[in-house]
Amino acid sequence: MSLQIRFSDRPLGHEILGINTAGDIAADVFAEIEAAYDRYGVILFRNQHLTPEQQIAFSKRFGDLTEYTVKQYNMADHPEIFIVSNVVVDGKPLGMVDAGRYWHTDMWVTANPPRGSMLYAIEVPIDSNGEARGDTCFASTAAAYDGLPEDLRKTIEGRRAVFDSEAYFMSRMSRTPKDPITGDYSEDVKKRMTQRSQNVVQHHDMVKVHPRTGRKSIYFSEEAISHIEGMSVEESAAVLEAVRAHVLRPEYVYRHRWAVGDLVMWDNISCLHKAIGDFDLPLHRTMHRTTLASLVPNKAAA
Ligand code: OGA
Ligand code: MN
Repeated sequence: MSLQIRFSDRPLGHEILGINTAGDIAADVFAEIEAAYDRYGVILFRNQHLTPEQQIAFSKRFGDLTEYTVKQYNMADHPEIFIVSNVVVDGKPLGMVDAGRYWHTDMWVTANPPRGSMLYAIEVPIDSNGEARGDTCFASTAAAYDGLPEDLRKTIEGRRAVFDSEAYFMSRMSRTPKDPITGDYSEDVKKRMTQRSQNVVQHHDMVKVHPRTGRKSIYFSEEAISHIEGMSVEESAAVLEAVRAHVLRPEYVYRHRWAVGDLVMWDNISCLHKAIGDFDLPLHRTMHRTTLASLVPNKAAA
């Protein structure tokens, strides 16, 4: 069989047609799905019907899974599923509300970030005009690498960037609104501040080679990088801004408009992603995420 694909007009975000991810998928068909995933970085399936068990089973066809580092939003009886949700039940959040409203790769705090993630739409907010809210944007860092201007490529190739959770936290707090009445952060934010683990610093190659395809990609996350090894903070900031502006050029970015039943999977090396937070209660948004473990042999934390 040859997989039917409906291509987006960008390098990534292609829809795989005619596949029931809850069903038995023959090995040769699965191999084509995995090849498409490796090659394009973001693929998706529409109109899926997945129980948590079925999502986990499909995810495991790609290899080992890993649990999300912030355990409190992992499903109690299926910790492989991390819940992204703005729904509150009996005063308790169902999942993490803000799972990445900045351009990022997942779990850059780890020495070997995951191979990728799979997000399944359970509830999608629909506004009063009937339009879906809460899109997710994806940028192809593989296509962006191929399109790098020579001077910028030379500047970053072979360099390492210092990812720093405290720098990210401070930057994020500066964007977090305080309650207009109390003048303080909400209880939820305060809880997160006290619960945050100690500062984690990881040195990541700015150009990563994909372990399955050998293709090079730019490895980057907004706000997370304090500086580039061997460069001053000022010099780093200028380079990082040039990288950011390049990676986010519109021709590299696919914006996914969700519908209930969509299953979107992204490669965590060949793309960046960002959640658009343009919705609020009473509109509900709930997603189930599984995370594919890194394929890179364990490297010691730098
Ligand atoms: C994530 C993530 C984006 C979204 O789950 O890692 O970034 O749109 N989610 O919810
Ligand atoms: Mn993410």
